[in-house]
Amino acid sequence: ALLPRQIITGKARLAGVLGWPVSHSRSPLLHNYWLARYGIDGAYVPLPVAPAQFAEAVHGLQAAGFRGANVTIPHKEAAYALATELDHTAQRAGAVNTLIFEANGAIRGLSTDGDGFVASMESAGHKPQGKALLLGAGGAARSVAAALQDRGLHVAVTNRTDARAHALAEALPGLDVVPWAMWEQQLGAYSLLVNTTSLGMEGGPDPMFRPSLHHAAPHLVVADIVYVPRITPLLAEAEQKGLKTVEGLGMLLHQARLGFREWFGQDPEVDAGLEAYVRASL
Ligand code: ATR
Repeated sequence: ALLPRQIITGKARLAGVLGWPVSHSRSPLLHNYWLARYGIDGAYVPLPVAPAQFAEAVHGLQAAGFRGANVTIPHKEAAYALATELDHTAQRAGAVNTLIFEANGAIRGLSTDGDGFVASMESAGHKPQGKALLLGAGGAARSVAAALQDRGLHVAVTNRTDARAHALAEALPGLDVVPWAMWEQQLGAYSLLVNTTSLGMEGGPDPMFRPSLHHAAPHLVVADIVYVPRITPLLAEAEQKGLKTVEGLGMLLHQARLGFREWFGQDPEVDAGLEAYVRASL
């Protein structure tokens, strides 16, 4: 009842999401919602691809006439390496979550996670400011860190694998590194905490991840980019402490806009209908 009928003809425009695994992704749901809502002749499909087949899959999609694809765990850095043109954020982040196959054969790589994250914070009424601490140093962390720095925040990262945090600090001057074993004690210095790892994700490495927020300042905003479950154990802990929280679903919805516009030619809206539709699937 929520959706008008989707149109898929012989001229349909095609896109999808490359990940491993990808069955948890809500990207197909949200892009197909927009396709139906705007009456666009197109389809967006899940594309489960193992790391060893990533390059082959991308070139295969391009050969098959796809407009492009989103890229999720664990392919964001491989997508960066494969792109033949990069936007400013992707270049800074060293990661790509959106690929656009151009008519001339170029593969354009964008990194929309960071701007999507900022947009979701703003739409939740928490414009990012002050000092931010990011958990993780993977592709999503890189994009979020670059976007926050671009808006004048002081950003620090902490990561289980220290070397990866230091590599990120080298790519983004001004970035601080906090040792993984120390971040809970040092939390009081920050106004924003963002989990960019897969910790706390259903089916992830540690779905019960619930660190101590004992040292949090009262004004700390806690954000998670994990959106399955909607309220991660980290967000539950923050709520229990009376801290403001931002759920991961908003970033998913906002990061998707730019790719949709490039592939399907329409700037889609993140509205209450879309949010309710995707939220109902969580
Ligand atoms: P994405 O591109 O979506 O950011 P990624 O590049 O694979 O995905 O990054 C995953 C992040 O989750 C990394 O920061 C990773 O830490 P490591 O660099 O130490 O691997 C973090 N992560 C994944 N599983 C973890 C675990 N069990 N404990 C702590 N961190 C974990």
